[in-house]
Amino acid sequence: MTPAASAPIGIFDSGLGGLSVWRQIVALLPAESTLYVADRAHVPYGSRQEGEIRAYSEAIGSRLLEAGCKAIVVACNTASAVVLQPLRERFPGQLILGLEPAVKPAVALTRSGVVGVMATPATFQGRLFRATVGRHATRVRVVEQVCLGLADLVEAGDPDGQRTEALLRGFLEPMLAAGADTIVLGCTHYPFVIEAIRRLVGPDVTVIDPAPAVARHLSSLLERHGLRAPPGTSCHRFLTTGEAERFDRDARQLIGIETASLHVPWRGATPPGLELPPLTPLLQLPPQPF
Ligand code: DGL
Repeated sequence: MTPAASAPIGIFDSGLGGLSVWRQIVALLPAESTLYVADRAHVPYGSRQEGEIRAYSEAIGSRLLEAGCKAIVVACNTASAVVLQPLRERFPGQLILGLEPAVKPAVALTRSGVVGVMATPATFQGRLFRATVGRHATRVRVVEQVCLGLADLVEAGDPDGQRTEALLRGFLEPMLAAGADTIVLGCTHYPFVIEAIRRLVGPDVTVIDPAPAVARHLSSLLERHGLRAPPGTSCHRFLTTGEAERFDRDARQLIGIETASLHVPWRGATPPGLELPPLTPLLQLPPQPF
């Protein structure tokens, strides 16, 4: 069944990181409604086993599609690396977008021939990253920087603190020493520390946040499929597998929005199931200006 143009776009991440994608989508497509799921019961995904990441993200992605979302955006590089293919096979013809490290634009931009990529361990281990590098980075050197603990500091509400800065210095130094003049943010949590990164690397290094390109890609896919929402009906709902109050507080602090989130519980383990409330009442809220 073809989803309705007024149906929401499902967006999910292990936690708050996907909000860096959400805000670009909402800015570019103000008529669209969104349903955001943060799996904070299991954050961080980046240091988990592939099987676990796939189980959680497949459960969330499939529930969003079954619930009637007209498109989903896997707003997490780590989850995208393992779940895009199985979801596309299970839901053929549905609009399923993901995040992959922006190696292609970085290769086009670099003058030094060295590109740095910041991501989680699981993203670097995934096939998607290998394939992206193999396809686009044949003539440049790609320096991989595992940024263990960086997403956790964003989750902990400390993106601007001294601990973050110290951690960033350690991560940036090897890429700069190798001659990188272009750095890719390969995790959706990292745009929340992009100002600190830019300050530390200086004006001669370009830092790429892929989120605006994902929003543009989504926009063109919706257009092509005749699924752009009519104006004046937008509504945004936020679900978290963690504590709702904490999500609201952290989202307010991070991007200044009032989320009034709902807690959704996991049930069972193999495979894990997510209890999503029915979509229609969930989205019959007054339009919220963001
Ligand atoms: N935001 C996720 C990503 O883009 C990862 C954070 C985590 O480790 O959960 O990779």
